[in-house]
Amino acid sequence: MKGIILAGGSGTRLSPLTKVTSKQLLPIYNKPMIFYPLATLMRGGITEVLIITAPDRAGDFLRLLGSGREMGAKFTYEIQDKPEGIAQAFIIGENFIGEDSVALILGDNIFEDDFSEQIKAFKSGGHVFAKKVPDPERFGVVTFNESGVAGRIVEKPKEHVSDYAVTGLYLYDNRVVSIAKNLAPSPRGELEITDVNNVYLEKGELTVSTVAGAWLDAGTFDSLLAANLLIAKQEGSRVLS
Ligand code: DAU
Repeated sequence: MKGIILAGGSGTRLSPLTKVTSKQLLPIYNKPMIFYPLATLMRGGITEVLIITAPDRAGDFLRLLGSGREMGAKFTYEIQDKPEGIAQAFIIGENFIGEDSVALILGDNIFEDDFSEQIKAFKSGGHVFAKKVPDPERFGVVTFNESGVAGRIVEKPKEHVSDYAVTGLYLYDNRVVSIAKNLAPSPRGELEITDVNNVYLEKGELTVSTVAGAWLDAGTFDSLLAANLLIAKQEGSRVLS
């Protein structure tokens, strides 16, 4: 399985922090943010990783991560000219993915869990990971019936449908490339990852697991602070003792 880290976008919600650097390079305690999603992929045995960045930030990522050889990995870089949706990653990454299956992780998602078992066991279809959150309106959410079977996935629901957010780690078989190519942009002009998930869900081929440990999407000032506090605590920062 190959890996993609989507680390583009303009990070406007974190302005002015993101005026001179990319959101995914901001510090989370003692490392740049992108190290955490990268570690999630590498812990799962994924060593071929495509990093997708915004055009004006590619050099910073290259300087930070280089070839990947030192980490026992191989990094490839592509540019997303405009943030036209998370699912565009599979179109930009088509050549990189080749005939393989792929794990996509968002560059601002920080997970405590180890997904190596699910990554190694993945065979076909799609596999996403949900987490109960207090603010589901910020996310794509998944509904479950009484037997715990996933019903539908709704992107940023205006009315409450579920407390379970679909987190930013997605495993797909090779069909995801053609699914992404056939998507129509949503009303906000993006190729939505939620639409990809619903294609697999409608075929009965989407596995939804729950995330046991902490999960943070560090895209707002509060979640960025929460991510820093979580990692500082794990690393034994004396400030928090
Ligand atoms: O964090 C999980 C959530 O991520 C999911 O629950 C949602 O279904 C999914 O749409 C997404 O929601 P966000 O509102 O967090 O998406 P955002 O636009 O903030 O993008 C997430 C990350 O992906 C962010 O670090 C920027 C990057 N990105 C996003 C888009 C749309 C890109 O690099 N390119 C893009 O075109």
